[in-house]
Amino acid sequence: MSEPRAGAGGKESLQADGDAAEFDVVVIGGGPAGYATSLYAGSAGLSVAVVEKDKVGGTCLHRGCIPAKEFLETAAVYRTVSGAKEFGVQVSQPTVDFAISQDRKQKVVDQLHKGLSGLMRQRKNQTFEGTGRLLGGHVVEVTATDGSLRRIRGRNIVLAAGSVPRTIPGFAVDGRYVLTSDEVLSLTSLPRSAVVIGGGAIGCEFASMMSDLGVRVTVLEALPKLLPGCDRDVADVVARSFKKRGITVRTGVAVSGHEPHESGTTVRFGDGEQVVVDTVIVSVGRRPLSEDLLGEGTGVEVDERGFVKVDEWMRTGPDGVFAAGDLVATPQLAHVGFAEAIVIVKQILSESVTPVNYGAVPWGIYCHPEVAFVGLTEEDARTAGIDVVVKKDPFGGNSRAKILGETEGMVKVICEKRPDGSAGRLLGVHMVGPWVTEQLGQAYLSVNWEATPEEVAAFIQPHPTLSETFGETVLALTGRGLHVG
Ligand code: NAI
Repeated sequence: MSEPRAGAGGKESLQADGDAAEFDVVVIGGGPAGYATSLYAGSAGLSVAVVEKDKVGGTCLHRGCIPAKEFLETAAVYRTVSGAKEFGVQVSQPTVDFAISQDRKQKVVDQLHKGLSGLMRQRKNQTFEGTGRLLGGHVVEVTATDGSLRRIRGRNIVLAAGSVPRTIPGFAVDGRYVLTSDEVLSLTSLPRSAVVIGGGAIGCEFASMMSDLGVRVTVLEALPKLLPGCDRDVADVVARSFKKRGITVRTGVAVSGHEPHESGTTVRFGDGEQVVVDTVIVSVGRRPLSEDLLGEGTGVEVDERGFVKVDEWMRTGPDGVFAAGDLVATPQLAHVGFAEAIVIVKQILSESVTPVNYGAVPWGIYCHPEVAFVGLTEEDARTAGIDVVVKKDPFGGNSRAKILGETEGMVKVICEKRPDGSAGRLLGVHMVGPWVTEQLGQAYLSVNWEATPEEVAAFIQPHPTLSETFGETVLALTGRGLHVG
């Protein structure tokens, strides 16, 4: 892959269009990839226009990460209050008023939206309300909600139009019986029962949250295991916890359709099986929002799944036209969008930059128990023919986990095997258990720094903390442990 050219997309590449306002960067889409581009470019003094058809913040802030985690926190508070007696705190059995939870979620989202909008104004980013479409010659046509058109032009263009939930045949989204994450996150009351189609990140988060709040949940996953992208040991811990909490998980099953009736809807799956529920939640992935994004002659290519094609520098092909975030076929994570935005802006500024290492980005899934990981799974490593040394340590022996009353889960570290059989550099760290999304940071640094167990174990973990489990696992990988053998 060739190195990026300095200052990609010069003025000379623009077509003459006297009326169009001109910016250093025009971004289509104000989600994480788009707003990170605009903030980072703005902080370097570049003039930036952001075209957004809804609200800046995108899926993550309005219909994704933030509202989902807010409701998972509602579930966590409910669990804590339900278990308070064990700590000697006497409370009556809690009940949930989901309309209040929805209000709180909206307040958090609105505050973050206000903060983000303010920050963009401070950085002198100009926002254009409307739907952006790239034409030739770095011109972006903006169609406002009233249908009026205007054109703006960027020395550089960043396509960051994001994604929408995928749907499946036989389950037309109607907002009543069949919902996607968009609708679930706007509910003001919970159903009594739900089928969740897809046991990936979104499916497990919704299943966990709803079950904790009293909904009878069935997860139907097409592949042979829950959380198919996760390490098997980690997915097994989540599956066991779900089972213990009464969530029915069926893996390796196909769904064929549903029939609504007065008392809910009957979902057909597997070999002639069915289940009657109030609501079906479809969480089978997200598709890029690339239709109508590109006019004639832009030179930007889209693959057969609708992802805009980019190289590792996020270049689409034509000079100075980049794409990032869920619109491109990289992990659909807000923080990956942030990282891609920085890669783009640094090229625009002719600064040196390293492409994102997609094999070692941090992942976090906020179901209960939480999942967090970075790097290769044990299966990935073995499939790639890499000899590994693996060490697992359960949270059951961790003092802080015992204090919290949350001992479910473990840390699993995968290292390259040295010729002498000892553990070499860390290839992957997979965590499941209490607050692991907040503990992943040092594992992420260790894997990306290609650190060895000796190097990582030399650092002290504060006691008593949950992070000691990672420290102890790595220490044991040096050949001798304290609590872990
Ligand atoms: P996903 O790709 O994580 O999971 C979709 C699941 O649906 C897969 O397990 C797949 O095998 C299954 N599936 C597909 N078609 C099916 C069918 N017809 N019947 C039954 N199962 C079927 O996608 P998900 O959960 O919708 O999330 C979308 C994206 O959002 C993910 O790529 C993820 O990166 C991101 N996300 C990240 C989160 C986080 O970091 N905390 C949380 C939620 C989502």
